[in-house]
Amino acid sequence: MNFTIANWKMDLDLNQGVDLVKDFKKMAEREKDNLDNNNIVIAPPFTHLFSISKILSDSKVFLGAQNMFWETKGDFTGEISPKWLKDLSCKFVILGHSERRMLLNEDYFHVHKKIIAALENDIIPILCVGETRIQRNKGLKEYVILNQIENALSGIDLKDSKILIAYEPVWAIGTGLIIDPEEIEYMSRIILQKTIDLFSDKNIKEQIYVLYGGSVDSDNIESFMKYPTIEGALIGGASLNAKEFFNICKKANQFKT
Ligand code: PGA
Repeated sequence: MNFTIANWKMDLDLNQGVDLVKDFKKMAEREKDNLDNNNIVIAPPFTHLFSISKILSDSKVFLGAQNMFWETKGDFTGEISPKWLKDLSCKFVILGHSERRMLLNEDYFHVHKKIIAALENDIIPILCVGETRIQRNKGLKEYVILNQIENALSGIDLKDSKILIAYEPVWAIGTGLIIDPEEIEYMSRIILQKTIDLFSDKNIKEQIYVLYGGSVDSDNIESFMKYPTIEGALIGGASLNAKEFFNICKKANQFKT
């Protein structure tokens, strides 16, 4: 099983998004045998969710959101309830993306609360972690990632739900820079070990999936998906084109059968 997740960010307007999903759905139906091993998720902006939820309702493609609030109702101007996402059949939510951490001061204290709320509402969290270029140059990448995971996940009762952890080095996002696949594999093992320590449970591996994100496209997806500990990708720029995203999904589908 693996996960191929499209993060549209704030990039396609509603009409463009609807067209892309319709095109993608046609391709996916035509070649469904080439995608059967793949959990495909599309995460559009909030304003597009209602329309896109309707288009995807009779397909195997899942809907995701790019953020949510940690309370379900109340005086929280501008926020979106996890319950409303669930009402729209959103099965996944991206949390703690570095763009939110850097531009909006979101921290892992917030992310922690959002993860709890997502799990309580039956939404699978996609937790983003990643070091900056400066942190990496100082030799701090392991420390930063372990710390982010600890802050986001410690004390959480996972019960039997899944959590996806996307390792996204901040400097690789949207830059065209893809890091050495062996290094992605090394980081994925560190992340998995940290979750085993945190939940004091070797079996937790069944519930945690490590993904990679940062300039992923159809040319490089195979270079890291071949490693058993990397079980998917979070894709920004390359998910904005139906054919390219479809090709990425098809290539990812060959792994983890
Ligand atoms: P990118 O974005 O694929 O455009 O680098 C990935 C992300 O930000 O999740």
